[in-house]
Amino acid sequence: MALAKRRKLACPLIASKKESTEMTTRAPANVPTVSMTALQTTLSDCLALVADTKHAHWNVKGSDFFQLHELFDRLVDDLTDLSDTVAERLVALGGLARGTIDETASHRTLATLNAELQSQSDLLAGLIERYSDLSAKLVPLINETADAGDPTTSDVLTEASRSVDKARWFLMSHQAT
Ligand SMILES: [Fe+2]
Repeated sequence: MALAKRRKLACPLIASKKESTEMTTRAPANVPTVSMTALQTTLSDCLALVADTKHAHWNVKGSDFFQLHELFDRLVDDLTDLSDTVAERLVALGGLARGTIDETASHRTLATLNAELQSQSDLLAGLIERYSDLSAKLVPLINETADAGDPTTSDVLTEASRSVDKARWFLMSHQAT
């Protein structure tokens, strides 16, 4: 079928190429700037934490190796799902979800995990510090987006907070007492 005819039959909800490009670069006027910034920051921090947690999955050494190897991979899966939700909210608002490695590195606010860490206690401590940091950063973003009149983004960030807190609990439960 000719391209022009296929375009005519396409779902009206799918924007043309020109419209699509505009949607990814310009947020609607009624979307609070705080929402776009909060979602991009959260996306970058989640993706950074995916990389840090995967690093721990690969390199952990210690008597609890297998348990932690499995746990870290489960946390990566949860963070990946969370990143998807955050990114798609950003795009649904008309923004651009900046998810490349370079963009993640420039937008992340969490400290980088020391790549030389291998012991299970060091990796657990390093990850707990970063999950705790992300948890603390999400609370004001939840409130700011709600106050700005965007309860849906606030709800997405609340879901992120719940997921990050649960991961932090799992990590802390594996620390030696
Ligand atoms: Fe693996």
